Amino acid sequence: MKALIPAAGMGTRFLPATKAQPKEMLLVVDRPAIQYVVEEGLASGADEVVIINSRDKKSIEEHFTPAPELVAHLRGKGKDALADAVEHAGSLNVSYVYQEEALGLGHAIHCAADACGDEPFFVLLGDVLVPDNEICPKMLEISRAHGGASVIAVLPVPDDQVSRFGIIAGSEIEAGVWKVDGLVEKPKLEDAPSNLSVFGRYLLSPRVMELLADVQPGVGGEIQLTDALDAVLKEEEMYALVISEDDGFDTGTPESWLAANEALFARKRAQAQA
Ligand code: G1P
Repeated sequence: MKALIPAAGMGTRFLPATKAQPKEMLLVVDRPAIQYVVEEGLASGADEVVIINSRDKKSIEEHFTPAPELVAHLRGKGKDALADAVEHAGSLNVSYVYQEEALGLGHAIHCAADACGDEPFFVLLGDVLVPDNEICPKMLEISRAHGGASVIAVLPVPDDQVSRFGIIAGSEIEAGVWKVDGLVEKPKLEDAPSNLSVFGRYLLSPRVMELLADVQPGVGGEIQLTDALDAVLKEEEMYALVISEDDGFDTGTPESWLAANEALFARKRAQAQA
């Protein structure tokens, strides 16, 4: 099973910091943000992470390429912990496909159709970090309990944020698990069927990938993943795992990126002192 990480976006919210440097490569405590997401995918049962990249963001690929000379240099200086960290980054099982045009999240995901074959797949959006890697394994459990159905993570959001996200309709079938009846991308508050927002962790059936081939541009003129999820509901069941704010760290805006750094740095320091 593959874990897909779309990374072809322009990072406009972080300009000018992202003028020459991909947003995914911004530092979070001790490593680039995307490394957390790659590690999460591999820790969640994916045999390989496929990064959907754009051609001009080569530094992402350089980060995951082995660097034996640097490792040897560090070992020669007795800096083994750093050498291990560099070796680790180069050993993660990552491959790349390219999104040639920025036509939307759904389009980006479909660029990895050949890599996924007819297997279920994870999608992990890089704007949120889940350093304990706990969400995807729970989603897998729910999927297995429901015959391999698609499962998405959802987070309750206040009314003033509803129109920033994909929002689900459905009903709670057990504590923290909803059966999904519909999805709508960035609805107006008055049109929103709930306040449960699609959070950026998806476990999807291969049928979603097939349907993505035919999704027409939707909100913002973009090919939306949310529209393929809504379409698959005519044929298959889908479930949602309700998560809480403590389960993940948003890094999608400069403010939230700073807050995530602070929180994760405090955790790292506490772990070092334990
Ligand atoms: C994307 C999805 C949206 C989801 C959000 C989570 O939107 O289209 O459904 O709620 O990610 O971060 P974007 O943030 O790319 O506009």
